[in-house]
Amino acid sequence: MKQGNMDTATVMHGVFGDPIKHSKSPVMHNRAFRELGLNAAYAAFHVRQGQLKDAVAGIRAMQFRGVNVTIPHKLEVMDYLDEISEDAVAIGAVNTIVNDDGKLTGYNTDGIGYVRSLKEEAGFAAAGKKVLMLGAGGAARGVAYALAKEGASAVYIANRTVSKAVQLADSIRPFTTSEGIGFDSIVDVRDEIDLIVHNTEVGMHPNVDEVLIDTSWFHEGLTISDIVYNPLVTRLLREAAERRAKTHGGLGMFIYQGAYAFEYWTGREAPVAAMREAVLEAFG
Ligand code: ATR
Repeated sequence: MKQGNMDTATVMHGVFGDPIKHSKSPVMHNRAFRELGLNAAYAAFHVRQGQLKDAVAGIRAMQFRGVNVTIPHKLEVMDYLDEISEDAVAIGAVNTIVNDDGKLTGYNTDGIGYVRSLKEEAGFAAAGKKVLMLGAGGAARGVAYALAKEGASAVYIANRTVSKAVQLADSIRPFTTSEGIGFDSIVDVRDEIDLIVHNTEVGMHPNVDEVLIDTSWFHEGLTISDIVYNPLVTRLLREAAERRAKTHGGLGMFIYQGAYAFEYWTGREAPVAAMREAVLEAFG
């Protein structure tokens, strides 16, 4: 079905967020629906704080099949769902809702999306590996949890506000060895780690000249992964490449969180290559 050819049988999907106008999810999912010939559509909805409960009621009332939830709603939305997956409860955030005949279930595909993109795009399997995470905010939670569940043997979390790193490290300790540290303690762990994941907005457009930590010690045995995808190659990744470390950009996390959501909604394997192409075209 071509986009724009919706009819009375079209299965609706969308994303709720504020702001939402820059979201690349609609082009990504509509391309995926088209690629598989599904009579389905996906739109962006500007849902302001205070209106989320009504918006979720709309999912039921209008029989949307699926919705993504983004900033600032990923936590609050948990109050309005019928069921929440174990992963989403542990992470403390929902980014994907599946509607089964009025029963709404919340999932979190950010962390598993990240781990899948790391595997597919950088050839990095986290099991048995030691990881240093930079940042302990909302984005870091899903990544830390997924890496721990994947079998990383240690997850160190460094953050400007050390108490937040300690808190996040505590929350994943059932699954792996973990420790929250300050940036000045990176020197104590740097010789044992295999992967660094950067989870803050430092280096994101328009502040493309920023980098969070000293990179002079990076080496070819390391994989450096940045969840920032605007720009596609951040200063952190540029400096990592100069030191011959392997690099992994943040676009894949976005693509694969969407791929998992698509698979939950449709039961079909997501056409990842087409989805990536659509997003890259939208970036221009
Ligand atoms: P998100 O949901 O995008 O992760 P967040 O929950 O506000 O957003 O978390 C932002 C993360 O980036 C935090 O780890 C934050 O560090 P603090 O916990 O110390 O605030 C980190 N961060 C943002 N700007 C930073 C900066 N200029 N220097 C160091 N860390 C920064």
